[in-house]
Order: sequence, then C-alpha cells, then structure tokens
Amino acid sequence: MPDFTPRVFSGVQPSGGLTLGNYLGAIVKFVDWQERGTHETVYCMVDLHAITVPQDPETLRRNTRELCAGFLAAGIDPERSILVNQSQVPEHAQLGWVFNCVARMGWMERMTQWKDKAGANAERASLGLYAYPALMAADILVYHATHVPVGDDQKQHIELCRDIAAKFNHDYGVEFFPLAEPVIEGVATRIMSLRDGTKKMSKSDPVDASRINLTDDADAISRKFRKAKTDPDPLPGEVAGLEGRPDVRNLVNIHAALAGTTPDAVLAEKAGSQLGHFKADLADLAVSKLAPVSSEMARLMDDPAEIDRILARGAQRAREITVPILERTYDIIGMVR
Ligand code: AMP
Ligand code: TRP
Repeated sequence: MPDFTPRVFSGVQPSGGLTLGNYLGAIVKFVDWQERGTHETVYCMVDLHAITVPQDPETLRRNTRELCAGFLAAGIDPERSILVNQSQVPEHAQLGWVFNCVARMGWMERMTQWKDKAGANAERASLGLYAYPALMAADILVYHATHVPVGDDQKQHIELCRDIAAKFNHDYGVEFFPLAEPVIEGVATRIMSLRDGTKKMSKSDPVDASRINLTDDADAISRKFRKAKTDPDPLPGEVAGLEGRPDVRNLVNIHAALAGTTPDAVLAEKAGSQLGHFKADLADLAVSKLAPVSSEMARLMDDPAEIDRILARGAQRAREITVPILERTYDIIGMVR
C-alpha cells in the first residue's frame, strides 16, 4: 500500500440533540485527536445520513447548526480541523453511488444496525437506510482517511468500509483506497441509557429521562442522575464487583470518562458509598463539565450566520481533498471526463 497522509475522519448525524453518549463516545475523542496534532482531522455533520429516516426540514436545519455549535463548544477549532456539512460536499454522495455498486447485498443484510432499525418492518424502511453504510464508507474514503474514532455501535460499519476499500482495490487492480482503522478506545465507547443499563443511550429514545442532552440545564442533569436506575447495594471496591450490575457499571464509567480517569480509580475512591451519594457526586461532576459546553452552544446558536460561514469555509477546504480523490476514482472506473 502507498503511504497515506495520516488523516482522521468522523461523522455525527444531526438527527436530534447531542447526548452525553455522543459527547463522551465521540466528540471528546475528536478534540483529543485535534490536540495531538499527529493527523489532519475532518469532522462532519452527516445530514444525508439523517434523512434515511423522516426529518422535518426546519428541524433538520436547526439540528445541523446546533451540532456544529456543539462541536465548536466542545473545543473543535475550525482552523485546525475541517468542520464540514456532508451535503455541502457533493463528492460524498457521488462516491456513495460508486460504493453502492461495490458493496454486496449480502454484506448489507448482515448489518446489525439495519436489522435493529428496520426490524420486522423492513418492507417500509427507505432504500437509503439499507444503503447507509455504503455512504458512510464514502464519507471516510473520499478523504482517504486512515483513522476513524467512533463509539462501539459503529464498529461493524467501519469493517464494512474496509471490505469495500479492499474489494474496490482488488477489482480494479489498484492500491487506491486505504483500509481505514476504527479507533474505539476508553471507557466511554458505549454509554448506556440511565433507565436501562443494557440499552445504548440514544438521541432517538422516546424517554427523555434515559439520556443527558448537551442542552440540559443543571437542574435537569441533576434530576436525571438522581433518578437513574440502580440497585440497592453500595459501590464495590473494584470493577469485578460490577458484574451483573449494568446500571451501576454505566454510572461508574460515566464518572470515569467525565473525570478523565478509570473505573478502577473511581471505585478505589468511592468503595462502599451508597448509590444516592454517588449519584449526587456524579451529577455535580457532570454539571461542572457540561454547563460550560451548553452555555457556549447557546451563545453560538444566537448567531446562525456565523455558523453558516464556518460551514461554508469547511466545505471549501474539504473539497480541496475530495474533488481530486473523486476524479481519480472516476478515472479508475472508466468514466469519460
Ligand atoms: P450518532 O449520534 O448515531 O450519529 O453517533 C455519533 C457518534 O457518537 C458515533 O461515533 C457513535 O458511535 C457515538 N455514540 C452515539 N451514542 C453513543 C453512546 N451511547 N455511547 C458511546 N458512543 C456513542
Ligand atoms: N453512522 C454514524 C452514526 O450513526 C455516523 C457516520 C456517518 C459516521 N458517516 C460516518 C461515523 C463516517 C464515522 C465515519 O453514528
């Protein structure tokens, strides 16, 4: 394989407000990569992915700007990283079509997210929902990205991206697309619902108390943690003692991720605490970390024109990378230009 420029790409759907799961599982990692400075970093609001399920146009526009505000408030610097909205860079969708013709039906059918989301009602799901992982592969490969930081739920999609890259390279006898590496690290790769420690915290959960939204105020954050589902036993002294206690494990993981330590360190300090005390502590910690982010988001949302300027500039910078990669792809597959 040729040497590819070290480049990080990741995307978040503007399909609702950001949750603590997105923040700890993805956005905090995005900021880390930017700060490390070893890779170019590209972060994307994937609005074309969001419309695989019905979206109200005004709400989608607002969510896209709010997601951009969330990235900025969390510490993404639009000078050091490329901050871009998917639909403003047409090469994503163009390469997505090419990959629809590379990926096999059998590969798509194995995607667990498709099976979960479409469920028994697959007949009525959009064709886009089915094809979504091929577009995701295009998002990554249209930048020749080498590393993709994501939460645990996206692992299978990144593996599919590698399969698509390998099949394309093999079919055309080239070494053109990199096999991008998933980066799924730390304690926050799967933050669970506050109401059910066996289910992922999700912006699409109908029960608002199941998640912390980045726009929640201090009262809401405290209330949700205080009411989080737990069991009556005190905290154990080590991680092994969390076996069979998914709700408590989740709170310990959240505490560790927010404090930048490990679950073992949290338990070493809090061993024997009653859950009521621990939840109050956790609520204070969460408020202290999230309140500055949410107030900065609110400030940025007061000036949508500035957000739109940042996105326009991001699209311009992104296309300096994506246009030549799409052109070379078209040459490889035999398009007359
Ligand atoms: P989405 O909101 O589905 O577009 O997800 C954006 C990013 O956040 C992806 O990298 C997800 O894997 C990550 N993510 C979403 N929910 C969670 C969660 N509950 N725990 C950890 N990471 C998550
Ligand atoms: N599918 C991802 C999610 O729902 C979002 C996404 C789209 C993405 N394209 C991507 C993530 C490319 C990483 C890389 O969370």
